[in-house]
Amino acid sequence: MNITYHEKNRVFKLDTERTSYCIGIVDEENFVGHIYYGRKLSDDNLGYLMRTGEPPFVPSENNRDRTSFLDSFPMEYTGNNLGDYRESTLSVRTAGGHTGVSLSYVAHHIYDGKPALEGLPATFGDRTECKTLELVCEDKILGLQVLLSYSIFADNDAIARSVRVVNQSGEPVYLTKVLSACIDMDNDEYEMITLHGSWARERMIQTRPVALGKQSVSSVRGESSHQEHPFMAWKQKHTTEEAGDIYGMHFVYSGNFLAQIEAGQFGTIRAVMGIHPENFCWKLEPGESFQAPEVICVYSSEGIGGMTRNLHDLYRNHLIRGEYKDKKRPILINNWEATYFDFNTEKLLDIARQASRLGIEMLVMDDGWFGERNDDNTSLGDWQVNESKLRGGLKYLVDEVNKLGMKFGIWFEPEMISPDSRLYREHPDWAIAIPGRTGSLARNQYVLDLTRKEVRDYVYDMVAAVLHSANIEYVKWDMNRQLSDIGSYGLPADRQGELLHRQVLALYEMQDRLTREFPGLLLENCSGGGARFDPGMLYYSPQIWCSDDTDAVERLSIQAGTAMIYPLSSMGAHVSDCPNHTVGRTTPFETRGYVALAGTFGYELDVTKIPEADRARIPDQVAMYHQYHDLVCQGDYYRIAHYADNHFYDCYEVVAKDKSEALITYIQVLNRPNYHSRRIRIPGLAPDKTYVIANIQDWPEIRQTEYRGDTLHYAGLNIPPLWGDFQGRLMHLKALS
Ligand code: GLA
Repeated sequence: MNITYHEKNRVFKLDTERTSYCIGIVDEENFVGHIYYGRKLSDDNLGYLMRTGEPPFVPSENNRDRTSFLDSFPMEYTGNNLGDYRESTLSVRTAGGHTGVSLSYVAHHIYDGKPALEGLPATFGDRTECKTLELVCEDKILGLQVLLSYSIFADNDAIARSVRVVNQSGEPVYLTKVLSACIDMDNDEYEMITLHGSWARERMIQTRPVALGKQSVSSVRGESSHQEHPFMAWKQKHTTEEAGDIYGMHFVYSGNFLAQIEAGQFGTIRAVMGIHPENFCWKLEPGESFQAPEVICVYSSEGIGGMTRNLHDLYRNHLIRGEYKDKKRPILINNWEATYFDFNTEKLLDIARQASRLGIEMLVMDDGWFGERNDDNTSLGDWQVNESKLRGGLKYLVDEVNKLGMKFGIWFEPEMISPDSRLYREHPDWAIAIPGRTGSLARNQYVLDLTRKEVRDYVYDMVAAVLHSANIEYVKWDMNRQLSDIGSYGLPADRQGELLHRQVLALYEMQDRLTREFPGLLLENCSGGGARFDPGMLYYSPQIWCSDDTDAVERLSIQAGTAMIYPLSSMGAHVSDCPNHTVGRTTPFETRGYVALAGTFGYELDVTKIPEADRARIPDQVAMYHQYHDLVCQGDYYRIAHYADNHFYDCYEVVAKDKSEALITYIQVLNRPNYHSRRIRIPGLAPDKTYVIANIQDWPEIRQTEYRGDTLHYAGLNIPPLWGDFQGRLMHLKALS
C-alpha cells in the first residue's frame, strides 16, 4: 500500500496490492479531477487521461466555454449550479438564499493510519494497516472548506472515502446535499448490479444495462430498507463470478441513501453515493463542520466473486468489532416462531430444558415480555417486565436458564413507541410527528424522536436497567417500522431538515453506549427481518437478522444476495419449523440445517413440539456447526450456482485461506426426471493439491473420493440426482498434505 504525490504531474496515486486510484490537479484554478481507478499501474504520468489537452480545454485557455469544461471534466467531487449539469455531490444555500459551489484544491496531507469519523461508523485500521490522503479543497466565495478523505489498507484492495464540510465564513450556510463519493469514468457498456426486495425477500440481486440517463437505488424511509440497498456495482458485460472487471460502492450508513449511475452524452458515467438529499437540509453555523458518512469503493479484475471476497475480508478485519468479532457465537434458540406473544416463564423453561439437552447454547426471549404486550398493538416504550407473564421475574428466569448451562438473550425495540403505552400517554410529543397532522401508524406504532437527548437517555436508561437486572448476554435490537411524518417537536424550524440524519446519529450513539457499557454483550441488529442490514449497523453488531423469512428455499436467494457483499459470519440464520410460517413450504430438516449453516446458525421453533425425528437430528446439526464454524466464518466464499437464476439448484463453497479444506453446500431445490448427473465446477482450490471428500459416508451416490484441485475447478465434479425436492448435501474436501 502506498500513497504518493507526484508534484511535477500534480498527480496523487493510491496503490493497494492490486489496484491504483489516481487523482489529478489541473489548471490555474486547481480543479480536482479523477484520472483512473482499476488494475494497479506502475506509471504516474497519467494526467492525459483527464483529456485536458483536448477541447473544450481548461478554463484558463477557454473561459468563453467554461460550462463545456465543467460539464465534461471527470470530477473527483462536484459542486453545483455553475455549469456541471451532471449529478452534483454538494449543494448549499447561503443565508442570502443563493446556491452554487465550486471546489479548488488548496493543500493535502498524507499520513499513516485512518482517523475515526466522529459519531459515525467507519472502517478502521492502525498506522501499520492504513494510509490516508486528505485533500483540502475550498470554495473561497462561500468560505467553505471541503475535506476529501481517502484511506487504503495494507491487506485489502478497498478504498474508504468520506467528506467533511467546514463553514469558515461568518454566516450560517445550509447544506442541502452532501454526498460522500463520486467516481467519473469512461463508460464501457457497463451493467449495474443492485439489491432489491421487500419484507421477507430482502436483497434479491438485479443486473441491468447502464442506460443513458440516470439509474439509481435509494431509500427515503429513514433506514437502509428492505426495498433497496445502499450498494451498487458496475461491471463489464462479460464479467462473470470468476473473471472480469467490476467496481462497487457500499455505504457505511443506516438511513436514507442515494446510489446512482448517470451515463452521459460523452460516453462517460458518474457514479455517486451518499445521504439522500430528499428532506435533508443541515444548518452549518460559522466554525462548525458536517461529517458525511463513509463510502467503501472496490475494484476487482477477478469478477463478482473477487469483489465479494474483498468486501468480506474488509468487514471481518476492519469493520466488525467487539468481543464476538472472531469468537464463536453461541447456538441460540429464539421463541418468536415458537410462541409469538403467547408465553410465560414455564413455557420458556420447557423450551430451554429440551434445548439444553440437545446442545443448544442460548435461549433468546423475543417480543412480548414487557408492559402489557400480548399482541403488537401496545406497550412499546414501557420496558418493564410483565410479571404476570414472567412469574418470579426476569432474574429468576435467567438464573434458571443459566443453571441449565445456557446463556440468556432478550429482544428490544428501543426506537419505538406504541400510542397505547404509558410512555406515550406521558409524552405524546416524544414521537416523530408533524404538528397538526395525525401521524401515519405502521404496525400500530410511532417512532420516537431520538434527536432529543432527553428521549434517547430515557430509553437507553430503561434498556440498561433491564440488562443490569439479570445475567443477559445477548440483545436483539429490532426496528419494525419505517419513518414517515418527518417532524420534531424538539428541533427549531430551520433545523427540521436535520431530523432524519440526527435520528441515525442518535441510534449510533445509543448502540455505542450499549456496547461500551456492556462490552461482553452479543448484539444482533434486526429490522422487520433484514431492513437494516448495512455496514453501518455491522460496526455495532457482528451479526444482523437476515430476514423474517426462514424458509430454506427462500433463504437461498436472500442469503446469496446478502453474502455477495457481507461475510457469512454476519448473517443471522435459523432452522425453523414446517410448514414454514411465511410460505407454508415443507422442507427436510437436514436441508434447513445446511442452509442455516451459512449464517450464524440457531433455531426458531418450539423444540418441545416438533416431530421426534426432527428433534433427534439437532445434536448432529449442533456437531456440524461446531465442526465447520471456523471454516465458514473465516474462509473465502464462492458462489457456484444460484437457484434464483437456474430455478433448479443452488451451490456455494467456502475455502480455507490456506486452501487446506473446503465446504461445498449443494441444494437440489427441484428434482428432474431422467437426467444424468449435474457437472459442477469447484473454484478456489489449490490446483496442484489432491483433495479427498472427507465425509463421503454422507454422500454414498458419489463413488470417487479423490480429485485434484485443478480437475475440480476446470473439469468439475459430477453430482448425481437426489431423490425428491429440497434435498441438501454438504461436501467436505480436505487436501492431502
Ligand atoms: C420483527 C423481527 C422478528 C420478531 C418480531 C417481533 O419482525 O424481525 O424476528 O422479533 O419483530 O415482533
